[in-house]
Amino acid sequence: MSSIVCLESLEAMKAFLDRQANERVALVPTMGSLHQGHLALVEEAKKRAAVVIVSIFVNPLQFGPHEDFKNYPRDLEKDLHSLERYGPLSVFAPSVAEMYPNGPSRTVITLPSMTNTMCGLGRPGHFDGVATVVAKLFNIIRPHFAFFGKKDAQQLAIIRQLTRDLNFPVEIVGVPTVREPSGLAMSSRNQYLTAQEKDQAAFLYQALLAGKKLFERGERHAGSLIAEAFKILEAHGIEPEYVSLVDADTLASVDTIADSPVILALAARLGRARLIDNVVMESL
Ligand SMILES: Nc1ncnc2c1ncn2[C@@H]1O[C@H](COP(=O)(O)OP(=O)(O)OP(=O)(O)O)[C@@H](O)[C@H]1O
Ligand SMILES: [Mg+2]
Repeated sequence: MSSIVCLESLEAMKAFLDRQANERVALVPTMGSLHQGHLALVEEAKKRAAVVIVSIFVNPLQFGPHEDFKNYPRDLEKDLHSLERYGPLSVFAPSVAEMYPNGPSRTVITLPSMTNTMCGLGRPGHFDGVATVVAKLFNIIRPHFAFFGKKDAQQLAIIRQLTRDLNFPVEIVGVPTVREPSGLAMSSRNQYLTAQEKDQAAFLYQALLAGKKLFERGERHAGSLIAEAFKILEAHGIEPEYVSLVDADTLASVDTIADSPVILALAARLGRARLIDNVVMESL
C-alpha cells in the first residue's frame, strides 16, 4: 500500500487539511522532476512537522514567453515513486486550471528591488510569478514551515522578504545545495545537458569556490572575487550571464564585504540549460 496521498484539487486539499487540524504542516514547493536536492528538502521537512506536503506544479506564471514551459520535464508517476520511501506524505499536484481558474492571476506580487537584479534581469517577470504562486500555496495550505533550496539564493531571499512584508505566518527554512560528485548543483534542468556540457558545468562551482578561497585569504573587494571566478569560467569556455556579489538578505550589490553575509552567485547558459549556483561568504 502506498503511503503517498496525491491530491489534485483545492477541494481535496482543504478536506485533507481539515482532517489534520492539530498537526504541524510543512510545505515543500517544487515543479516536479524530483532529484536528490528536492528529497533533501523533504527530509528536512519530515524532521519539523508531522504533515509534509510536497507541491508539484509547473507554474506557467514564472516562465517567459520563450522559455520551456511546454517542454519542462514532467513525470508525476516517477515523482510519486521517488517520494515513496519518505512516506507518509501528501503530494499536491493541481492542474493549471485548478490554480488559475480565471486565466492568469491579475494580482501579481512583485519585489522590485530584489527582482531587478541577477536572474531577474535575464528572466523578466520570473520572480513575480514565483512570489505569486508561493503566496497562493501559502494561503491554500497554510503551512507552519516551508522549505526552499539555497541553490536558488535569489528566490530564497525574495520569499523570506515577502513572508515578512505580508506577515505570512510561516517559518521559511533554507536547505543547503545538494551537488553531484563533480560539484555541479543538482537541478531538474540538468537533464538538458549533454555529457560534455555536464563536465563543463562542474566548473561553475569551481569558479565560485575560487572566489570564496580568495575571500578566505582576506580579499574583501567584490571586483577581485568576481574576476577570480571569471578567470576559471573563461578557462573552460563558459560565458556567464552574470557573476554578482550581493548581500545575502537584500540582494543589494556589494563592493567591499563587511560584516553581513554575502553571496557570490552566477548564471550561465550551457546548451539548452540555464544553470545557476552560488556560495555564501561570511566574515566570522
Ligand atoms: N540541488 C539542490 N539542492 C537543494 N535544493 C534544491 C536543489 N535544486 C532545487 N532545489 C530546491 O527545490 C525547490 C524546487 O525547485 P525546482 O522544482 O525549481 O527544481 P530545480 O532543480 O531548481 O529545477 P530547474 O532546474 O527547473 O530550476 C526549490 O526550493 C529549489 O531551490
Ligand atoms: Mg528551479
